[in-house]
Amino acid sequence: MIERRSDGALISPSVLNSDLTRLAGSLDLLEQAGADCVHLDVMDGVFVPNISIGIPVVASVRAATHLPLDVHLMIDAPERYIAEFIEAGADILTVHVEATRHPHRALQMIRERGASPGLALNPGTPIAHAIELLPLCDLVLVMSVNPGFGGQTFIPQALGRLVQLRAAIRDGGYPTLIEVDGGVSASNAARITAAGADILVSGTALFSAEEGLIAALQNLRAASHG
Ligand code: DX5
Ligand code: ZN
Repeated sequence: MIERRSDGALISPSVLNSDLTRLAGSLDLLEQAGADCVHLDVMDGVFVPNISIGIPVVASVRAATHLPLDVHLMIDAPERYIAEFIEAGADILTVHVEATRHPHRALQMIRERGASPGLALNPGTPIAHAIELLPLCDLVLVMSVNPGFGGQTFIPQALGRLVQLRAAIRDGGYPTLIEVDGGVSASNAARITAAGADILVSGTALFSAEEGLIAALQNLRAASHG
């Protein structure tokens, strides 16, 4: 599992809205910029109203970068594909609590197969749905947009949810990290980390930045430091 850092939040750039014909170049830039991992968004057109990348792309990315792969599964019944995504190279594998009848089993499967288990919650899902599962999670991903698309606006209620989750993790004494995904930029990063986030996912704000990807990533981390 990735470790917290002293100079700001961990940054997991999402390549969803990047030019996917230039993925290898983007991965090189992310390494140069000091990204902590790469966030890969897998969508099935059923759990979310969009279709993105799948197992072959994860395997290609694995071969093209040294960065840990933070794979976010937005797919129904994700337990069907856990083994394949880990074989393809996922280091962190995150499933949605809303997408499976057996989140406990899915998280166990991820751990048994040697990856770090993550549990994601949609904006409308009570934080309480993660509490019983915290002992099994290396991270909890709090969605700050409804999943399916990059470039959406951060939902401010996510901040209160982060505070709740941070308190539950502290009270239970768990090492679980908190990741936030959706609408994250240098303008809201300080509030998000102050509310309890350890890992910031950011796509559009990095890949569409006027200052370029490397400067944008470094600005995001500096902003997250408060
Ligand atoms: C949305 C995805 C996000 C998305 C983030 O469903 O899970 O990872 O790519 O993109 P931005 O930073 O543009 O909101
Ligand atoms: Zn994501």
